[in-house]
Amino acid sequence: MYVPANIVANNDLLKYMETSDEWIQERTGIKERRYAQRIGETTATMGIEAAKVAIERAGVSAQDIDFIIFATLSPDYYFPGCGVLLQRAMKMKEIGALDVRNQCSGFLYALSVGDQFIKTGMYKNILVVGAERHSFGLDFTTRGRNVSVIFGDGAGAVVLQPSSSNSGILSTHLHSDGESAEILAMYNPGTHANYWVDQSLADFDKADIGQMFFSHSMIEKAQVFPNMDGPAVFKKAVEKFPEVILEALQTNGLQTSDIKLLIPHQANLRISQFVQKKLRLNDNQVYNNIQKYGNTTAASIPIALCEAWEEGKIKEGDLICLAAFGSGFTWASALLKW
Ligand SMILES: CC(C)(COP(=O)(O)OP(=O)(O)OC[C@H]1O[C@@H](n2cnc3c(N)ncnc32)[C@H](O)[C@@H]1OP(=O)(O)O)[C@@H](O)C(=O)NCCC(=O)NCCS
Repeated sequence: MYVPANIVANNDLLKYMETSDEWIQERTGIKERRYAQRIGETTATMGIEAAKVAIERAGVSAQDIDFIIFATLSPDYYFPGCGVLLQRAMKMKEIGALDVRNQCSGFLYALSVGDQFIKTGMYKNILVVGAERHSFGLDFTTRGRNVSVIFGDGAGAVVLQPSSSNSGILSTHLHSDGESAEILAMYNPGTHANYWVDQSLADFDKADIGQMFFSHSMIEKAQVFPNMDGPAVFKKAVEKFPEVILEALQTNGLQTSDIKLLIPHQANLRISQFVQKKLRLNDNQVYNNIQKYGNTTAASIPIALCEAWEEGKIKEGDLICLAAFGSGFTWASALLKW
């Protein structure tokens, strides 16, 4: 994992918006988050730092990696994706680089893709990265406070390799429901030209040609930030997290009591606590570190996985469950025998 050195406590946000440490902690559990340096630290560079650690711990070199999967919703460029920036910076071979855009479920979607390539024997060392630089694109005024207090920057990475039977990734489970695509979304820049949302959310210029991607008016009207209906997201998340965790267990003939550690996407501490209660898991079975990093979207699961492993909470043979829910909506789970 890699997180920027700059720690931003809840109280530091009071400079920009009307909020309070008490409100943020009570509703989300977050105490602080990290923000990348404005110049010199990007989603790709943070992903690269995490990748270096993962590659070293896997006992391979950057030249051994034969496929890159990079999950992010906050890429350095609109295109090309961060995967090729990482490939270039790490002087890797001319291998495939795939970018995944599945927001909070991004890392699990990426892991699932990697898992299939490993299981078919196509690749031997796949680098899977989740990285985000939210701090660059949030609305740091009172208007945007329901979103901006939640998100933080950081990156995590893993190297996938073939393993002996009955260990490694047992199964992955991916889902989506686009019915609520606009509930947690950043509409602009985009090519939708008000097809899905109206002018109050995206004021496109009325030019005949061109100028249809991003307009001056959008900037003036602050239509360039993420939108979120928090309560609606919360409601769906607490339904889908348990569902997809149980799906993973049932597929493998296992029970919640078999889980050594559940590492949920760090969306909101209240969501994790709700899921824990619903599945009747004890405190030692659920890992949370949102208090320190906020919601780092595609990076949150690999960051939490890394910290849990470094703290000795994951041992060989343990059953680890990863689960995520987020924008799309998309949700996913993975069951691992460490
Ligand atoms: C975002 C979230 C914390 C908001 O909590 P909530 O209890 O649902 O709060 P609401 O959005 O209903 O807002 C309640 C009040 O707090 C205010 N508020 C919102 N953000 C605030 C902030 N940062 N500081 C202080 N007050 C805030 C609202 O303006 C509202 O005020 P009002 O009652 O006067 O209108 C909560 O809905 C949530 O966590 N949802 C899930 C979000 C999530 O996990 N997203 C990532 C998914 S991957």
